[in-house]
Amino acid sequence: MNSHRLAAELRKIFPEDRIITGELERRIYNYDSSFMARFHNFMPDAVVLPRSTAEVSATLRLASEHKIPVVPRGAGSGETCGCLALRGGIVLDLSSWDTIEEVDSANMQVIARPGVVHYKLNKHLAEYGLFFPPDPGSTRMCTIGGMVANNSSGLRAIKYGTTEQYVLGLEVVLAGGQVIQTGGVKCKALKNVSGLNLTKLFVGSEGILGVITKVRLRVWPRPRARGIAMACFADLNEAPAAVLDVYRAGIMPSGIEVLDASAIRAINLYRPEINLPSSEAILLFEVDGNPASVEWEGRQIAEIIGKRAFSVEWATDPDRMTDLWRGRSVVAVAAARLRPDGSRIFAGEDISVPLDRVTEALRKIKELSQKHDVPVVNYGHIGDGNVHTAPVINLNSPEEVGRANKLVDDIHRLSIELNGTTTGEHGVGAVRNQYAWAEHGEAVNIMRRIKKALDPDNIMNPGKLLPAEGDTGGV
Ligand code: LAC
Ligand code: ZN
Repeated sequence: MNSHRLAAELRKIFPEDRIITGELERRIYNYDSSFMARFHNFMPDAVVLPRSTAEVSATLRLASEHKIPVVPRGAGSGETCGCLALRGGIVLDLSSWDTIEEVDSANMQVIARPGVVHYKLNKHLAEYGLFFPPDPGSTRMCTIGGMVANNSSGLRAIKYGTTEQYVLGLEVVLAGGQVIQTGGVKCKALKNVSGLNLTKLFVGSEGILGVITKVRLRVWPRPRARGIAMACFADLNEAPAAVLDVYRAGIMPSGIEVLDASAIRAINLYRPEINLPSSEAILLFEVDGNPASVEWEGRQIAEIIGKRAFSVEWATDPDRMTDLWRGRSVVAVAAARLRPDGSRIFAGEDISVPLDRVTEALRKIKELSQKHDVPVVNYGHIGDGNVHTAPVINLNSPEEVGRANKLVDDIHRLSIELNGTTTGEHGVGAVRNQYAWAEHGEAVNIMRRIKKALDPDNIMNPGKLLPAEGDTGGV
């Protein structure tokens, strides 16, 4: 269908001010945070901003009839090209559909539309003494729809789990326009094992099976107290060991983050006033709960990790906690400071390995960084083995870009070798689907059959999550 005809058809569904067809404006939709996106121009033919299920359904009906690709998009904060229109078509920008429909505090749940920003949801829930625990770290930007589509997690997954643990039900629009409810049509129960678990199927499906238009989430009582412990280590190997010591002592912090020596150096260059002690690794433990238990657990943690760390600080004062956390909150941006001509790229940035192989992973990533002569910064959610590696490169050097791509491939292969995965929380999109066979074996064929059953014409976010059509993984 040519672009004039497409625009005319979309005008039958959307008011003019929620359709984008101009080239300049469509350009806004050809990016996300991924390295790959820099080298392509994945332009949609049209963008629409739905605000109702009926609009999404009508768009999918139109798209199916004419076999036009459809790509759902939230805030565009992803790192995998997941929300980019690889094959053109229609982008559904769901970010302006941001109503919190109901806080059912008696039943500990909330119903929201996909564009609700994480921060806004938690601010609203706080009025009820509730919260939605997963926190991907991009709270002021990321949307609930994006979090569900990618099963994102982040800082608190060790204690509270990932997004999937909170999704009680979904409204999903399928290719062709059919609207279904998962988790029960009228169900408000917190437990439900009736039927196949379609909710889980759609959580993390990255837009390849349908469009999530409503989310029913369970929420938790807001913890009354919080504390942060920061520990500095002279030996990188001591950091993963200290994490295991804390678990063995029967303590489950709400978050455990690591910064390696390069991350520490980069943060101090970026914001000298943060002034992190020069060390081989820093661990940050967050503890939450009631005031007495937080205090007790914090002191226990300080004592346990003090056996391996050369300095430990425990704080419950809000300003001091913010100070201790400051390095972690700027590290993603700070990484580029590692070298004057450097840019931090989001590639190979999300491996997750078993806890007892974190030390090996960090050591081997360092070796790979040397082998390819590409400096890296490592940080991330060490408490669940999820390491964020940030290669820092000169983007103007094609030769260096080539070396970075080889490094990234090696990091991904390393994660699988270590019995881990190429992605703990950011997803597959178009940047990790080549590892699907290595990660899942024969199960890839079952994934393909599910995809075919729900989306026979492959219009839903084509080119993502599953390996390329011709790639049979040698099977
Ligand atoms: C973080 C995001 C990038 O943890 O996952 O900072
Ligand atoms: Zn993360």
